[in-house]
Amino acid sequence: MTQEELFKVLVAHCKEYGFIFPSSEIYDGLAAVYDYGQMGVQLKNNIKTYWWEAMTRLNENIVGIDSCIFMHPKTWVASGHVAAFNDPLIDNKDSKKRYRADVLIEEYLAKIEEKMDKEVAKGKKRFGDSFNEEQFRATNPNILREKQKYDEVHARYKAAEDANDLAEYKQIILDCGIVCPISGTANWTDVRQFNLMFSTQGSNNAGADDKLYLRPETAQGIFVEYLNVQKTGRMKIPFGIAQIGKAFRNEIVARQFIFRMKEFEQMEMEFFVKPGTEMEWFKKWKENRMKWHVALGMGEENYRFHDHEKLAHYANAATDIEFNFPFGFKELEGIHSRTDFDLGNHQKLSGKKIQYFDPESGESYVPYCVETSIGVDRMTLAVLSHSYCVEQLEGGDSRVVMKIPAPLAPIKVAVLPLVRKDGLPELAQKVVDTLKYDFSYQYDEKDSIGKRYRRQDAIGTPFCVTVDNDSLVDGTVTVRDRDTMTQERVKIEDLRSMIEQRVSLTNLLRKL
Ligand code: GAP
Repeated sequence: MTQEELFKVLVAHCKEYGFIFPSSEIYDGLAAVYDYGQMGVQLKNNIKTYWWEAMTRLNENIVGIDSCIFMHPKTWVASGHVAAFNDPLIDNKDSKKRYRADVLIEEYLAKIEEKMDKEVAKGKKRFGDSFNEEQFRATNPNILREKQKYDEVHARYKAAEDANDLAEYKQIILDCGIVCPISGTANWTDVRQFNLMFSTQGSNNAGADDKLYLRPETAQGIFVEYLNVQKTGRMKIPFGIAQIGKAFRNEIVARQFIFRMKEFEQMEMEFFVKPGTEMEWFKKWKENRMKWHVALGMGEENYRFHDHEKLAHYANAATDIEFNFPFGFKELEGIHSRTDFDLGNHQKLSGKKIQYFDPESGESYVPYCVETSIGVDRMTLAVLSHSYCVEQLEGGDSRVVMKIPAPLAPIKVAVLPLVRKDGLPELAQKVVDTLKYDFSYQYDEKDSIGKRYRRQDAIGTPFCVTVDNDSLVDGTVTVRDRDTMTQERVKIEDLRSMIEQRVSLTNLLRKL
């Protein structure tokens, strides 16, 4: 199965087992908007708890807030979103479909790369062990021709990006013969800037002044509350403010399931520091955040840093933590050293003094800020895509199993009476009573035990506890491990601590 096919299967699995549904599906859905079902919401909540506790419990100098989606419209002028939160957009006049001009060009470049890779694969097959990829790439005429094309288009694209030259974007699209995948034509409009913020109208007075935006990031809620939190919390620099909440962006290319949505959730932490110390903190937060990811056990090799060469005008350092999604390594989290850009601009526009008085040095300054920002939905997709496996079993059978890191699993334990008689359901209910205060659980007595195991595998339940006739005699039950499928007899009174060992968030936090 190709990665693309596998991804489609994962999307279908997420729907079938109550993780994620297309929004308003009975009306044929709404593009790039998804709802979380009964399993998805628990997985997402567990991810949020892991992040929240890691930030606010393990760091004495980080506190959390919950600010509103609506903010004073000047917020978005100060943050630069009104002027510059744009994507270059182009429409195809025949299909009436809208695209991001930069994405069309990037996809064209990716296709050239693919062609070169295919050529390399052919060479490998032909020459076997004696194959020298470097030499092959430097001499093969097909690759050299494609490479020249790639370099030329890439150089023009980067220059257009730097100069914000929208006419050149269109010219590249025309010169490369890029056509609309729906109409197949190159009947394009001019490229224009499209602001990604959703807006609505307040009710106080009609007119432009009353335009309200749905926040495109949660970070600004932190910046505008900086003074309140610093004063009421008697916070001393360095300190951080964390927040989890919804953000909205009118994404033009909203594809890849929950990777890029119009309504999504962010977990952001702004760490305020003394100017001049920001690089040291940037480095610390890079390490700290990578540790948080790796502790989940989804494979160190599946993460990498992508340091930004081209920095936004307000940043003096920036990196992405990329994850190996089914469609390749892509941004999962951003870590930015944002200088005093946000607080400084809010100070200017609001006219309120936003400064920190350092009692030790006696100086006042606008703090600098290091930001960590991760999308909850992207993190959920990382977990889901990494966890999905199809395993071949002895006897030609196969099983679909979600190997979700146990502390994040929506359901931690399933309690299953072997048969629906002989007092087994009653004993199983007693087992439930011993577990329900500590763990999310499912009780299931329908179908064969094999089918019930498969249902739990498909939602990623780490433990299945089977109550059988021996349980009535010796007070033990069979515990089946999701990943190894091994079974062991455990006393009912030892179940809680045994399960706790594997699924506890506390143990996960201890790794940090
Ligand atoms: N305050 C900084 C900020 O918002 P960003 O790189 O635009 O930076 C941060 O977004 C994170 O939010 C991304 O790394 C990604 O995980 C998530 N994110 C951004 N846009 C998203 C979208 N349309 N759908 C889902 N997640 C998104």
